[in-house]
Formats: sequence, C-alpha cells, structure tokens
Amino acid sequence: MSLSKKMSAEINAQIAAENESAYIYKAMAYKLESMNLTVFAKWFHLQATEEQEHAEKFGKYLLDRGAEVSLKAIPAPKANWKSCKEICAESLKHEQGISKRINKMVDLARAEKDHATDSFLIWFVNEQVEEEANATELLAMVELAGTASQVFMLEGRVWRLIEARG
Ligand SMILES: [Fe+2]
Ligand SMILES: [Fe+2]
Repeated sequence: MSLSKKMSAEINAQIAAENESAYIYKAMAYKLESMNLTVFAKWFHLQATEEQEHAEKFGKYLLDRGAEVSLKAIPAPKANWKSCKEICAESLKHEQGISKRINKMVDLARAEKDHATDSFLIWFVNEQVEEEANATELLAMVELAGTASQVFMLEGRVWRLIEARG
C-alpha cells in the first residue's frame, strides 16, 4: 500500500515543522548565550539538533514508502525574548503544538487504515511525552528560581539534565 496524497502532504508539512522547531531552538540558544546562560543555551542547541534528526526520520520514511520529499520555506524565528523564563514557557507551548500535530497524523493514519504509518508515528507520540516532560521541568525550575541570579545558579542542574540525555 502506498502513502495517500494527504498523508504524504502531512508528513512533508511535519518535516517543515521539525526544521522550524530546530530553527526556533537555535534562536533561543543564541539568545540564552547572549544572556550568559551558557548551559541553558547548550540545552537548546542540543534540542535543535534533535529536531533536525526528527525531520530526517520523516524524510527517510517518505522515501521508504516511495513518496516524494518536498521541503518548504521556514519562517524566521523571533528573537526578542526578554528572559529565560519566557523562552522556557514558549518552548513548552511549542512542544504542545507539535504533539497536537503528531496526534492529528495518527488520527489520519487510523482513518486511512494505514498501519505502517500508524506504527511509525508511535515513536513520535512517545518522544513528545518526553519533550513535554523536559520542557515542563525546565520551566518549573526557572519559575521556582525567580530572580535572574537564581536562574543563573540553576545552570548546574541543567548540566545534569544534559548529561542524563545520554
Ligand atoms: Fe521534534
Ligand atoms: Fe521537540
């Protein structure tokens, strides 16, 4: 069974969404570096790389199913965040949006009885649980810290989170 036109369009849109995520996280990482929050920045640089890997997985899947990869334009990310807290809050919101997209694709795969795509997408369903949990933890830490100097003190804790990524 080949991919439906609708499904291959959704997956191509998802490739753009993952690359856009990478671009947004890069912008966040550079902003954090400019705030001297080097370890937070490192976290977001790593996130960006991970998002590019997600895009690659979707691209490979399209090719495996005999469909065409068609890359779209990516909008420029904003860069005017005022605080680490604002960045963390936005990254959580962003991940929640990505989860919604993934869930919609699972709905479509099930409606089309496309079991292969359904099965392929489950990895991303699980990945999003981790992504949202990480983003929630980061935001909670920054909210608990409160002041800018206390956020700075959190860098050691973020470093341990980075080490735990494996
Ligand atoms: Fe992703
Ligand atoms: Fe993500």
